[in-house]
Amino acid sequence: MSTNQNQKPHAIMISLPLQGHIIPFVNLAIKIASKGFSVTFAHHEFVHHHISNSQYNSTDVDIFAQARSSGLDINYTTISDGFPIEFDRSADSDTYMESFFSRFPEKVDELVGKIVQSRSSSGSNFFLISDTFSLWPAKIAEKYGLVDVSFWTEPALVFSLYYHLQLLRENGHVPVNGRWENVDYLPGIQSINTKDFIFHFVQHRARTGREAISALQEKQPFYAIGPLFQGDFKNNLVARSLLPESNCTEWLNSRPAGSVLYISFGSLAKTDKNVILEIAGGILLSQVSFIWVIRPGMVDSDGGGILPEGFEDRTRDRGLIVPWCTQNQVLLNPATGGFLTHCGWNSIVESIWSGVPMICHPLFTDQITNRKLVVDDWKVGIDLCDGASVTREEVAEKIGALMSGKRADELRQEIKKVRETLQNALMEDGSSEKNFDSFVEDVKAEIERRCEKI
Ligand SMILES: *[C@@H]1O[C@H](CO)[C@@H](O)[C@H](O)[C@H]1NC(C)=O
Ligand SMILES: *[C@@H]1O[C@H](CO)[C@@H](O)[C@H](O)[C@H]1NC(C)=O
Ligand SMILES: *[C@@H]1O[C@H](CO)[C@@H](O)[C@H](O)[C@H]1NC(C)=O
Repeated sequence: MSTNQNQKPHAIMISLPLQGHIIPFVNLAIKIASKGFSVTFAHHEFVHHHISNSQYNSTDVDIFAQARSSGLDINYTTISDGFPIEFDRSADSDTYMESFFSRFPEKVDELVGKIVQSRSSSGSNFFLISDTFSLWPAKIAEKYGLVDVSFWTEPALVFSLYYHLQLLRENGHVPVNGRWENVDYLPGIQSINTKDFIFHFVQHRARTGREAISALQEKQPFYAIGPLFQGDFKNNLVARSLLPESNCTEWLNSRPAGSVLYISFGSLAKTDKNVILEIAGGILLSQVSFIWVIRPGMVDSDGGGILPEGFEDRTRDRGLIVPWCTQNQVLLNPATGGFLTHCGWNSIVESIWSGVPMICHPLFTDQITNRKLVVDDWKVGIDLCDGASVTREEVAEKIGALMSGKRADELRQEIKKVRETLQNALMEDGSSEKNFDSFVEDVKAEIERRCEKI
């Protein structure tokens, strides 16, 4: 009989250093702590540096202090990835990625070892929660005898594509090689065209995908628990943004309802200058009011400005250009009527939650598959240029269709329905809440089972 049964389960959570993954991972930490678990949460040092600088103008901040003072048992720490903070991880991504594969797991081992030892008497109450794209969990979990929970931040449809990679290979549908064909033999997926595959990803990062999946293939239970945000996004106990955010609320409050197009391509994706020029051209033709997020580094530019000359002057009275912003507050504002998006999963879920239909311009990875969900399955968005090159005439036409008229009304009707599905999932007896509760119970039971074996 173990002495640990009265101790709370303690999740060790080490984040993946990407903005789009950090947002739901932090939400998960809050959620699981609110269920009475202890959490030790670690950001990569450089992520800590960016968040604390951009949100607090200081590097010596405990990002979870406010969460803790609200009663949540979350301890915050950082982990080094082996590079100095100033190292440009995106410019030298080969070196960085190589080290991520080879050296980072040792750092994790060090940290987890320290955490587990510091409470050696209760060691068996620890368990791991990591992003499915992390490469270290299986080894670490085995070494320390920890329950290993894997957190997937993209749609189930995308997971299923990874999961059935071998089957797709056997049927000759991966690699895709530019052949567009419908695939209708994947369990649970009626039909998907190979053009909607995460194909860049499958080729370049198959290693990650395979490992992630083989870890999950041992018939482990799955729990559909999203979305993890609080309804009004007001759960701002914990800063998540690596970049300083412009507050667009006052500007939006002076605009008529549904009149503003919000444009953002997310935190990571790059696009080419020509796309920016054509979108700018489309904005001029359409006369729409807009907020446009032009993130530093989103275009590999030759040093000059990326907007056409005179664009800012010509749109000063109806446009706001910002380097980054509090996206969910923009989407929730009644003035916002449409979202031109790269189809990142956080963006899509936030947009649906806010009832804002989308124009889809996916750039890479799961965004390609996410577009299918938004446009083909749920009918809450339209394609930008149907995969062809972007022209300003079509941009203007699509903006027109999104913002007003018959098509816009249809999109708004459909998004109401999808939003309701989301809302239902989050109700107290909704699927998301129920699934989360069974996850909590199962983790507790599994930890106890392991304690008894010791
Ligand atoms: C940030 O901190 C520096 C040094 O402490 C200070 O000089 C600067 O004014 C601060 N900036 C803001 C926006 O608070
Ligand atoms: C928080 O975690 C750090 C690093 O593992 C540890 O040194 C510290 O004792 C922990 N604090 C609490 C209150 O658990
Ligand atoms: C943004 O501005 C609005 C209106 O000026 C204000 O009410 C709100 O608190 C601000 N939000 C943040 C996060 O500072």
